[in-house]
Amino acid sequence: MEAMNNLLERRSIRRYTEEQVSDELLDQVLEAGLFAPTGMNRQNVVMVAVRDKETRDCLSRMNAAVMGHDGDPFYGAPCVIVVLGDPENYPVVENGSLVLGNLMNAAHAVGLGSCWIHRAKQTFETEEGKALLRAWGLKDTLVGIGNCILGYPAESPEAKPRLDGRIVKIG
Ligand SMILES: Cc1cc2nc3c(=O)[nH]c(=O)nc-3n(C[C@H](O)[C@H](O)[C@H](O)COP(=O)(O)O)c2cc1C
Repeated sequence: MEAMNNLLERRSIRRYTEEQVSDELLDQVLEAGLFAPTGMNRQNVVMVAVRDKETRDCLSRMNAAVMGHDGDPFYGAPCVIVVLGDPENYPVVENGSLVLGNLMNAAHAVGLGSCWIHRAKQTFETEEGKALLRAWGLKDTLVGIGNCILGYPAESPEAKPRLDGRIVKIG
C-alpha cells in the first residue's frame, strides 16, 4: 500500500526551500533512476546530478533561452538531475522517460519535491550544451531527455482531476 500511495500522491512541485538536497537523499533518488528498466537492458541513460549553483543557474538560463525568456524554469530548486540518453542504443526517449519517472517517484518517497522540466533536448543540441557534456566527461552526442528538479518542497498541491475515458477494460 505504501508504494501505491507514493505513486498516487506524488505531485509536481514548483516551490522549494533554499536548503540543498542532502547527499544521502540524492543518492537514494539516483539509485532509483539506475534501476529503471531499459529496452533490451541497454542501460543507455546517464544522469548528471547538479548541485553546484553556477552550473545549476547556467542550465536554468539555457532552458529559459529555449523559450525566449529569462526567468527560472527550475522554480528555485537547488538541485537538478539532467537525464540524457545515448541515441546509438535504441530506444532513448522511452528509456530516459522511465528513469525520470523513477526519479520523481523516489524523490516523493524520501520526502523531496520534484518536477520534470522539459527542453533538455534543445539545451544539449546547442554548442554550449555540447561543451558542458564534454566538460562532464560525456559524449557530446548524448540526447537530452528531461531535467528532474529536486529540493525540499515549499508547497503541497492537490492532484488535478483525472480525465474520463482513459481506461478501457476488455473482459
Ligand atoms: C514530458 C513532461 C514534460 C514536462 N515539462 C514541464 C515543464 O517544462 N515545466 C513544468 O513546470 N512542468 C512540466 N511537467 C510537469 C507537468 O506539468 C505535470 O506532470 C502535470 O501538470 C501533472 O501534474 P502532477 O505531476 O502534479 O501530477 C512536465 C511533465 C512531463 C511528463
